[in-house]
Amino acid sequence: MRKTVLALCMIMLLISCSKTPNEISIKSPDTKINVDFNLNNEGKPYYKVRFNDKVVIDSSFLGFDFKNAFPLKDNFEIINTSISSFNETWQMPWGEQINVVNNYNELKVELEEISETHRKLNIVFKVYNDGIGFRYEFPEQDNFKEAFITEENTQFKLTEDYKTFWQAGDWDSYEHLYKTTKLSEIDAIAERNKPIAQTYIPNNAVNTPVTTVGKDKVYLSFHEAALVDYSDMTLGIDTKNLTLESILVGSDNHDYKVKRSLPFNTPWRTIQITDNAPELIESKLIVNLNEPNILGDISWFKPMKYMGIWWEMHLGKSTWDYESKQDMTSFTTGEKPKGKHGATTENTKKYIDFCSKNNIKGVLVEGWNTGWDHWTGFEEREGVFDFITPYPDYDLPGLVKYGKEKGVDIIMHHETSAATETYTKQQDTAFALMQSLGIHTVKTGYVGKISPKGEYHHGQYMVNHYNNTVIKAAKYQVAINAHEPIKDTGLRRTYPNTISREGLRGQEFNAWSLDGGNPPEHLPIIAFTRMLAAPIDFTPGIFNIKFDEYKKDNQVNTTLAQQLALYVVIYSPIQMAADLVEHYEANPEPFQFIKDVGVDWETTKVLNGEVGDYVTIARKERNTGNWFVGGITDENSRTLDINFDFLDEGQQYNAIIYKDGKDAQWDKNPTAIDIQKLTIDKSMKLKIILAEGGGFAISLMK
Ligand code: NOJ
Ligand code: CA
Repeated sequence: MRKTVLALCMIMLLISCSKTPNEISIKSPDTKINVDFNLNNEGKPYYKVRFNDKVVIDSSFLGFDFKNAFPLKDNFEIINTSISSFNETWQMPWGEQINVVNNYNELKVELEEISETHRKLNIVFKVYNDGIGFRYEFPEQDNFKEAFITEENTQFKLTEDYKTFWQAGDWDSYEHLYKTTKLSEIDAIAERNKPIAQTYIPNNAVNTPVTTVGKDKVYLSFHEAALVDYSDMTLGIDTKNLTLESILVGSDNHDYKVKRSLPFNTPWRTIQITDNAPELIESKLIVNLNEPNILGDISWFKPMKYMGIWWEMHLGKSTWDYESKQDMTSFTTGEKPKGKHGATTENTKKYIDFCSKNNIKGVLVEGWNTGWDHWTGFEEREGVFDFITPYPDYDLPGLVKYGKEKGVDIIMHHETSAATETYTKQQDTAFALMQSLGIHTVKTGYVGKISPKGEYHHGQYMVNHYNNTVIKAAKYQVAINAHEPIKDTGLRRTYPNTISREGLRGQEFNAWSLDGGNPPEHLPIIAFTRMLAAPIDFTPGIFNIKFDEYKKDNQVNTTLAQQLALYVVIYSPIQMAADLVEHYEANPEPFQFIKDVGVDWETTKVLNGEVGDYVTIARKERNTGNWFVGGITDENSRTLDINFDFLDEGQQYNAIIYKDGKDAQWDKNPTAIDIQKLTIDKSMKLKIILAEGGGFAISLMK
């Protein structure tokens, strides 16, 4: 068989010797994207991508380096190729939309080394209308049983000096601000020593998703899908050759980056490709490249808005620890807390009561369990946190019962302080406790350096920890919202109890950051970078923008109207109303939007947008058919024309428009808001002015 294929290849070689030999091409279903694959004369595999007949990725090589084995990157021959097509529509149990079209053409190339060992490697390309994904498959074979990968050498060679929205390639954190520079000007090393909890930037590399905008409106975003039992891929930047190349996250505990037994597949390497910015957000490439749902029915998880005993700790109004000074004595002696412990029964009831009156279905309580007295600033953090023992002033079962009577669920909190061994050991007990109480959602946290020492948040060890946590949680009907997480690579399709995550500079940076918090351009960049990976627990809805009562030097750098817009713009199936009860009570009119807005969507339409500048998104709520629209801008004021032609035919909507007041501005006058009621239908258009750092939100109820 191999001989015949070889003979065929030889003939093809002869026929096409004036062209590049053996070039194999595959197109997207709409034929706009084309991938060419070939081996060069040293037998090195490479691919090229054309979009609308323009080369957007020039010859880019593919391969691996190993510990104790020769690299796998040249001296290959093609032993087989196959092309197939696929088209299905699948449904999201919760999400930005119900139906997802998964339509692609696939090319599988089987390679074998021309050497004594004859190692085999397959490369599979899937070409969609919104981009491409490719991965390496290491098939089962006699001379290759275990791979100790020291580096993956996947290249993306760009053809011009793209404007790039990038974040430093950090092995421990995704909480850097995005920078906007030319590709040739990326300097990640200069981002070292930024004031974030844990950080390690070994190379001039970027985290993904990284988004680039070309001169003639070519938009490319690079990321990965289905990151399973492998390590996170950062992209090293060759500023001279305008090339991105994979640099895997490693570990200090061994001299390889990934260890796998054959057979195995790598994650998909992805490029979303569009000729306009809005379609980047509408792209479903990342979830499509993941395996279908293997959990089956997960109706026990309900998308919801939630509040939390949370912002008050970030403001310093209360504390996580029992005695308010991170000191164990009063706890061990059983003294009454002297301080401002936030997670008390009384305080939680206050939140439950407020949520119950305002169509908010969950209350997150942080600082409820023992360990907070001694959780950071120590080298050895294993054994500190306990995920079943409440502090004495917190009645967990009583509160769960109280909440259920009022239609409000408690959301569990597991801060692990990155002590993974303790957490892994306690998970069964902790999740079983949740299940016995009927608690279905937990926010996890991984603040600080990873224990065991030498591991990084984004290495293979942690990828497995995060994924195993989700799999274990599913057995107890528990859904996970991870903070300090591994990046999102679309695994929510396979494990829909993966509901949301942080993995960016969230709202909290506005409360305590030393560098002025998140600038107004932050979220207009996030929408086209981090959000392409999907759900974000950003925690919007801060109404008391300046919070001078608590922290004079910090503030939220947006207008109040923009805080409302974020419920629509930033997607998550759990959306926090992050501010304090009293700040909402003082502002009932804008709060009406938070009461009304949906969290689970039938359809999503991105109406306009430009990376880093502005974006407007319209979403139709499942079951009710109500629409909600949100628009945000960066530090520039702008006027947007909103065309309501997306609305249902023949339907009138009672609309409330929440927009920046006349002199609103994110710093000088952030809370000026103008609220207007109108009847709107499909035929209408509106001009809306967004202030500097501003935004608008519209509810359209049937
Ligand atoms: C960092 C998380 O992002 C934040 O939301 C949480 O309150 C603290 N860790 C404590 O767990
Ligand atoms: Ca965080």
